[in-house]
Amino acid sequence: MLTLLFALACTDKATHDSSEHHHGDSDPVQNQDSDEPKDSDEPQDSDEPEVEPGEALYMEHCAFCHGEDGSGTNNGPPVTNEFHHSDEELVRFMLEGKKQMEPVEDLTEEEAYLIAAWMRAQWG
Ligand code: HEC
Repeated sequence: MLTLLFALACTDKATHDSSEHHHGDSDPVQNQDSDEPKDSDEPQDSDEPEVEPGEALYMEHCAFCHGEDGSGTNNGPPVTNEFHHSDEELVRFMLEGKKQMEPVEDLTEEEAYLIAAWMRAQWG
């Protein structure tokens, strides 16, 4: 029993001592940091480039074969020079395929038009 009390007292004392030590050492520094209001307005938020839906869709469905920059890969030819085609034709390529190009799966007509518009803005 005596040993237990002694142990508890020791633990108490040790905890108390170390927490006081902690207070004295680090609190003034921490307070200085958290009192600064500049942390709340992060300029990075407004600088983030917005990814257009057409771009995201192109990267998801087409870049694998035609390259992120449209310059082509081993799986498909460049698509940076296809704008003699109308959007309607480009959309038809995507949805129905053309020669070696299989119809692109899981793509709605609306998404295909977004991709066509984005491609034309990039490379047209
Ligand atoms: C699995 C690979 C693959 C994917 C995925 C793919 N393509 Fe193609 N694409 C091809 C190939 C191969 C051709 C060449 C077709 C041919 O002329 O034989 C082609 C041709 C084209 C052409 C030129 C058609 C012509 O004859 O003028 C366009 C435009 C095009 N693709 C757009 C897209 C777009 C947009 C997507 C995404 C929605 C896409 N492709 C996804 C492989 C792909």
